[in-house]
Amino acid sequence: MIYLDNAATSFPKPEKVYEEIARCMREYCANPGRSGHAMSIEAGRAVMQARDTISSLFNISNPLQLVFTKNATEALNIAIKGGLKPGDHAITTGMEHNSVIRPLKTLERDFGVELSIVRGNDFGEIQPEDIGRCIRPNTKLIAATLSSNVNGIILPVKEIGAIARDKGITFLVDGSQGAGSVTIDVEDMNIDMLAFPGHKGLLGPQGTGGLYVREGVHINCLMQGGTGSSSESVLQPEFMPDYMESGTLNTPGIVGLGFGASFIKSFGIENIKHYKSELIKRLHEGIVDIKEAKLYSKSDINKNSGIVALCFKNMDSNEISSLLDRKYHIATRAGLHCAPLAHKSLGTLKCGLVRLSVGCFNTVEEIDFTISALNEISREVQKN
Ligand SMILES: Cc1ncc(COP(=O)(O)O)c(C=O)c1O
Repeated sequence: MIYLDNAATSFPKPEKVYEEIARCMREYCANPGRSGHAMSIEAGRAVMQARDTISSLFNISNPLQLVFTKNATEALNIAIKGGLKPGDHAITTGMEHNSVIRPLKTLERDFGVELSIVRGNDFGEIQPEDIGRCIRPNTKLIAATLSSNVNGIILPVKEIGAIARDKGITFLVDGSQGAGSVTIDVEDMNIDMLAFPGHKGLLGPQGTGGLYVREGVHINCLMQGGTGSSSESVLQPEFMPDYMESGTLNTPGIVGLGFGASFIKSFGIENIKHYKSELIKRLHEGIVDIKEAKLYSKSDINKNSGIVALCFKNMDSNEISSLLDRKYHIATRAGLHCAPLAHKSLGTLKCGLVRLSVGCFNTVEEIDFTISALNEISREVQKN
């Protein structure tokens, strides 16, 4: 099996991730931060270590400002719904995943939040000035994805962040596509809140994700409950991470995520980026010669987090993906990718796209095999 669906969730994970999850489950999976016995302390220490490792990856100076969630969607919902109130205005882009668009649209429909959406060009590129032009006196949030999950296009997050910082507007970044292979520096990029999944580029297991909230940015926590701290109080503690981390954590998952992040740190983000860029370039160069195929992604890795998006002139994207799976054992994703406005910008709302998303464990041989499979499919289409 050739796995080219890393934008949905990465596979495989580093060996150490499997090992440490199993070790945690077998040896020290007590409730972290609760009971005060040695095993509980050990679990708490492992969670803190994961918090530290991920923080250092994103240049977060105070790891206590990073809370764990079950995925990026949860982190994004907390960030969006916890910060906006009726009468506030938010700006986002037309390249967002539904996990940004839907909470914002829900707030607009049900809670009187105003929303502006800045559309991209036909590659999904966004101009920061267009965001600046939408700012109103009541703008409280700018939310932008680091990179599109449809075609991998990287957004000018640093520049958008500078505009937000200049106007005192909270800036939320969805790091779902790119975290682990695109440098994210919350200081340099003026990021106030960063939502990320643990199970994609950070190489952790499913059921993990997180949210960083800059000190001084206040958001209402959506959930209250047990934290193992301030147990004498009937109110939620106000200090981080407990303020936003109620209930028993996914300790084995977080441990695995920490080891995924640590693998990335030792491999080096720049090295991962460089390696993925070779694969992305090779795929583009191979596909560009296929007569039937049209590419919707860019081969320049500085503009692409690791996705090749294409469709064939006379074939539905689901059919191609299904053939790749059944005949060639290549796992891809087809159709619409939970980002309807992005498909609208790219002009692929009807046909959908085949998405080939590479990870750091794919090989050049796998890429070449995929190119020849697509060539074969194209020849079949032309015959019929
Ligand atoms: C850009 C983007 N944002 C958010 C998400 C949601 O991530 P999760 O499935 O971890 O909630 C995804 C998932 O594919 C994504 O690609």
